[in-house]
Amino acid sequence: SNLQLRHVEGVVTVAAPPHAKGVTLGEPLSSDDALDPHHLRLVVPSHQFSQNALIPSPDKYLEMYKRSIEDPAGFWSDIASQFFWKQPWNAYSVFSENLDVRNGPVHIQWFKGGSTNISYNCLDRIVESGYGDKIALFWEANDPGVGATSLTYNQLLSRVCQLANYLKHIGVKKGDAVVVYLPMLMELPITMLACARIGAVHSVVFAGFSAESLAQRIVDCKPKVVITCNAVKRGSKTIHLKDIVDGALLQSAQNGDVVPKYPTHCEVEWVDAEDPLFLLYTSGSTGKPKGVLHTTGGYMVYTATTFKYAFDYKPTDIYWCTADCGWITGHSYVTYGPLLNGASVIIYEGAPNYPDSGRCWDIVDKYKYVTRYSRESLRILGSVGEPINPSAWRWFYNVVGDSRCPISDTWWQTETGGFMITPLPGAWPQKPGSATFPFFGVQPVIVDEKGVELEGECSGYLCVKNSWPGAFRTLYGDHERYETTYFKPFPGYYFTGDGCSRDKDGYHWLTGRVDDVINVSGHRIGTAEVESALVSHPKCAEAAVVGVEHEVKGQAIYAFVTLVEGVPYSEELRKSLVLTVREQIGAFAAPDRIHWAPGLPKTRSGKIMRRILRKIASRQLNELGDTSTLADPSIVDQLIALADS
Ligand code: WTA
Repeated sequence: SNLQLRHVEGVVTVAAPPHAKGVTLGEPLSSDDALDPHHLRLVVPSHQFSQNALIPSPDKYLEMYKRSIEDPAGFWSDIASQFFWKQPWNAYSVFSENLDVRNGPVHIQWFKGGSTNISYNCLDRIVESGYGDKIALFWEANDPGVGATSLTYNQLLSRVCQLANYLKHIGVKKGDAVVVYLPMLMELPITMLACARIGAVHSVVFAGFSAESLAQRIVDCKPKVVITCNAVKRGSKTIHLKDIVDGALLQSAQNGDVVPKYPTHCEVEWVDAEDPLFLLYTSGSTGKPKGVLHTTGGYMVYTATTFKYAFDYKPTDIYWCTADCGWITGHSYVTYGPLLNGASVIIYEGAPNYPDSGRCWDIVDKYKYVTRYSRESLRILGSVGEPINPSAWRWFYNVVGDSRCPISDTWWQTETGGFMITPLPGAWPQKPGSATFPFFGVQPVIVDEKGVELEGECSGYLCVKNSWPGAFRTLYGDHERYETTYFKPFPGYYFTGDGCSRDKDGYHWLTGRVDDVINVSGHRIGTAEVESALVSHPKCAEAAVVGVEHEVKGQAIYAFVTLVEGVPYSEELRKSLVLTVREQIGAFAAPDRIHWAPGLPKTRSGKIMRRILRKIASRQLNELGDTSTLADPSIVDQLIALADS
C-alpha cells in the first residue's frame, strides 16, 4: 500500500504516498469512503492476489509501460509474434502514423505487409495447440433452465466453417460488407468469425435498433447480405427480428436452415494486416451515425493483449461479459479478445433482470461449478461504458465481489478498439471510481481549451498522443469527417470527446462527454439523432435534446419540444412523440421526459443555447447564467413555468 503511481509528462513514476489510507483486497470498504473528496482511499491488491497476477507490481507495469512508449515497434512486435502470420510484417516499419492534421492526411498503419486471419488465430490456432476440446462458448438462454448449450473450440471451428462456406456459396467475397442483425445467440460470434474467415467485413447492428436505423446503416455500407433470425425472446417479450429486417429491406431475405448442409472445413482467406475487419456504427454529435472502421492485425494484437492483462486472464477462468455484440464491447471482449486467448466465454441471450434482478448472480453460480481450481468463482469484476461513481463502485466491490475482487474499470471507446485506461488488477492500488492508469502503449494527455497539455493535478479534455494498434483507421467513406471530428479540435492529438481529471497521484477520473453525445446505460446516443427523429413527427416543429443525470442509467434523455403552430399539447401526443423515437432509433433512445416548449432559447444568430436547457432540465434554476444575449430572454421564464406541467 505504500507504492504510488504518478503520471508526469506522459511517463508514469512511482512515489510513496504519505497520506494513503489503504484497504486491502478482502476487507470491505465502509460507507464513509464515500466522503473521500481527495480520493485518498486506496484498495490495495492482497499479496496473494498480486503474487499470482500477470503484472504483479507497479515496477513490472512501469518497466513494460516504459518500453511500450520508448520502443513501441519492439514492444508490439514481440507480442504480435505470438500469433500466426502467413507473412511477416515489414520489420523496418512496424507502424507508421500521422495524427497531426497540419502535416497532411491522418493515417495509421500497424504491421503493414503482414498477412494473417483473426478467425484462424481465434480458432485453428487454439485447436492446433491442443485445446480443441476446451469449451469456447457457453450459451445461456433467456429463460432459466431452458436450452443452455455449449461449443468446444473444435465445434465452434466447424460451425464457423459451415457458415463461411455458405457465405462464399451465395457470392460473398473478400472485402464485401455483411450486415449482422442478431441477438445474443452463439450464431452472432459465429457469424463474425465466419465473415473474418473469408475476409468479408462484418457490420453488426445492435438488435435493439429499429427498421429505420437498420436501413440507414444498410444504405451506408451497402452489404451483400443481411444475416438475421426469425425472432428472439428477451425477458417476457418475443421480438420478431426478421419482420424488422423485412421492413428495412422491403423484400424478404433468403430463408435460413441451409447452413448445416455445408462442409465443416473452410480454407482461410489470408488478409493484409490493414485490410478491414469490421465496421461498427456509433453515434456522434451530428445526425448521421459514423461507420467506425477497424482493420485486422493491430486490432487483433490489441484486443488480445488488453483482455489478457486487464482481466489477468488464467486459462482455467470462465469469463462472462454481459455486453451485447451489437456494441464494441461485444466485439472486443465477448468475441475477439477472449477467443484469441483460448478462453471459455459465456454468452447470455436475455436481459440481466429477467426473470428477476438476481439473474446475473444465478448465472455466475451456475457456471462456477465448471471452474476447476477456484473455490470462489468470482475473481475479477469489470466495468465499462460510463463513469462508475464511488458508491456504485463500493456496492460492486462489497456486495457482488464480496470485498474480494478487484474491479477493472475500463475506459475506452468504439474508436479505440480496446481498453485505453484501465486497472491491471494485481499491479497497483485502485481508487473507487477511477479508471487509474494507461494501458501499455497508450499516452493519454489532458489539454486545456487551447490544446495546451496540462501537467500534474489537472482537469480538461482527454486526448491521446501517438497511435496504438487498436486505433480505428477511418470513418467508412468519410475520411474528412474522421479528421474533423477527432484530429482537428486539438491538432497533433486524437480527441476523445471526454473530459478527464488527473489527481495528484496520477490517477485518471473520467468525467463524461464534453460534446453532444448522451450516455444512457452505457449506450451512446447523439442528441442530434433523437432531435431529427422527433422533428420527423408531423406535429413537431422543433426539438432540442439534452442529457440529465439519472440515478440508475447514468444519464437520461430530456427533450424540449416545440409543436407546430395551433397544435395543443396532450398526453396522447407525448406518447406518440416517444413512439416515433422508438421506431426510428430504438427503445433505448426513447426520451424520459418531454418538456413542452413554446420556443427554444436561441442566440440572435439562431443557435440554441443548450447550456441553458441543461440547467432547466436539471432544475438548477439559479445557475442559468447570462441569458441577456438571447434573441428572446423571456423564453427562459416560459420554459421554467412549464417545467413540471
Ligand atoms: C464512456 C464503450 C467513464 C466515455 C466502450 C466514452 C466511460 C464512451 C468508460 C464510449 C469508463 C466508456 N469510465 N466513461 N470506464 N468507458 N466510457 O463507444 O464517455 O460505446 O467516450 O464505447 O463511453 O462509448 P462507446
